[in-house]
Amino acid sequence: MPEPSSSARHAVLISGSPSATSRSRALLECAAAILERLGARVTLVDLATLPAAALLGRERDAAVDAALGAASSASLAVIATPVYRATYTGLLKVFFDLMRPDTLRGTVALAIATAASAEHALAIPLGIAPLVASVGAIVAPVGVFATDAEFQDRRPTAALEARLTQAVSDARVLAQALHHSPS
Ligand SMILES: Cc1cc2nc3c(=O)[nH]c(=O)nc-3n(C[C@H](O)[C@H](O)[C@H](O)COP(=O)(O)O)c2cc1C
Repeated sequence: MPEPSSSARHAVLISGSPSATSRSRALLECAAAILERLGARVTLVDLATLPAAALLGRERDAAVDAALGAASSASLAVIATPVYRATYTGLLKVFFDLMRPDTLRGTVALAIATAASAEHALAIPLGIAPLVASVGAIVAPVGVFATDAEFQDRRPTAALEARLTQAVSDARVLAQALHHSPS
């Protein structure tokens, strides 16, 4: 079996929470650790640290350009967001508005969302999945949705961490399969 190309080992992890003590970002950091254990090269993009004027498209910024570059060259993108008003955050939306329609073409995207209420679990299939698909991503079939009750001291419960581990491993297998050379 051929070795995966270097791009097949690159994963970008995007945090869409504006919170400094973010639960969804905590899940993203767990996802990064899982991917690193699996041998992936990871780039974590925390949108809360990027300049607002550039995210709104009012000016160019090297860090925002680098984040977009990391997204466009990744074989796997893990997108984490809190549910705000029944969908992803505005912070995540403005970043995706900067992408070209093919920025995530061929990239496997895994969605992670946290919310106060389980009633808003549909934010993944009705919000995040169409968002990432609009820029060409192949959406991993099983996302990770968690409520605030599944965190203790802002750390995920063991059951949630197990769900995350399974979803991240599956998404990586899919990304590797898609990015293997056919020869
Ligand atoms: C502005 C705002 C809007 C929110 N809207 C919702 C919502 O529509 N449904 C929901 O279940 N939780 C909602 N929440 C709660 C957050 O989704 C939840 O606490 C989440 O885990 C926070 O994630 P974070 O710690 O990564 O920022 C909202 C929180 C804020 C601050």
